[in-house]
Amino acid sequence: MVELFSPTNCFFRRSIISADQFDTKSIEQVCKAARFVDTGPQIFGEALKGKILITYFYQESTRTRLSFEACMHRLGGDVISTTDAARTSSALKGETLEHTMAVISGYGDVIVLRHTEEGSAAIAAEKSIVPVINGGDGPGEHPTQALVDLYTLWSTLGRLDNLRIAVVGDLLYGRTVHSLVKALALYPGNSVVCVTDPELALPKDLATSVQAKGLKIAETQDLGEAVRSVDVVYMTRIQLNLFKDKVKKELEVKAATEEELERLVEERVADFKARTEGKYILYRRLLPDIDELAEDEGLVWVMHPMPILWEIPREVDSYRGSIYIRQARENAMAVKRALLLMVLGA
Ligand code: NCD
Repeated sequence: MVELFSPTNCFFRRSIISADQFDTKSIEQVCKAARFVDTGPQIFGEALKGKILITYFYQESTRTRLSFEACMHRLGGDVISTTDAARTSSALKGETLEHTMAVISGYGDVIVLRHTEEGSAAIAAEKSIVPVINGGDGPGEHPTQALVDLYTLWSTLGRLDNLRIAVVGDLLYGRTVHSLVKALALYPGNSVVCVTDPELALPKDLATSVQAKGLKIAETQDLGEAVRSVDVVYMTRIQLNLFKDKVKKELEVKAATEEELERLVEERVADFKARTEGKYILYRRLLPDIDELAEDEGLVWVMHPMPILWEIPREVDSYRGSIYIRQARENAMAVKRALLLMVLGA
């Protein structure tokens, strides 16, 4: 079993930048490796002794950074970390990401990077002398979250094909959805119902490319109807932070002063909020009422990459199909331990 982590594994000494890198074989390896570290007899408490994980985060994070760091500690490795690189690193002095990565990659064995810019993880991987794991690059991708999501589907439903999934909320800026639909397109028979405002639809290029691979995509703005037709509802929050980053970039050229820029950004954000807030909420009454039944038949599984804001009311937390806590806690810890072992070898 430990050959899952030997140099023959799909991710050994490789950067993980996009779900475009995945195939059914590598996803299967990750799922099996995650199950093995989670439930297997083998203890990996010393497996990464002497290795250093660098977490370099230019953008806010709770789970991604802490779970990777916790996993590295659990595996006996060390962690060095910058949590607010945009303000506390030499980025503030104007240093390029290329220079930063070229240098700091000599300080450790693997880097988990989160950045505000789409494409930044690919640039970092080019300059780094150690593997880079993309922990979210602006509105681009979040491939390790997709692996957590796939492991959650695989371990809960027992398959990754012939799934019917509603993806709800912010599909434009939701990088976890971008990576997930790419992965779902690798399997036969999967269909996705996009439940969102037209302003927040999946990026066109992405929708076209996954459809060309065979993923069926439907659209609706009726969440209740979508819930009745699927096995899984994958909720997301409206990504106001990413929307704000993008708007700021767009308006930078128009604004004469910092104050004017601030005001223009606030106006656009307020308008956007008014149009989207309160929409696409998964009320308990939209879910099949089968909490009394022993079987899972008819249950709709509720997933979310988290953080959850208003889109899932607290009453849904106790619904039997709600698996977002397990997804973000046990499953994320299993997948990220597996990934660190695969990338670094054990
Ligand atoms: C997401 C992210 O940052 O992309 N969270 C995560 O890492 N699991 C989702 C979000 O911020 O809404």
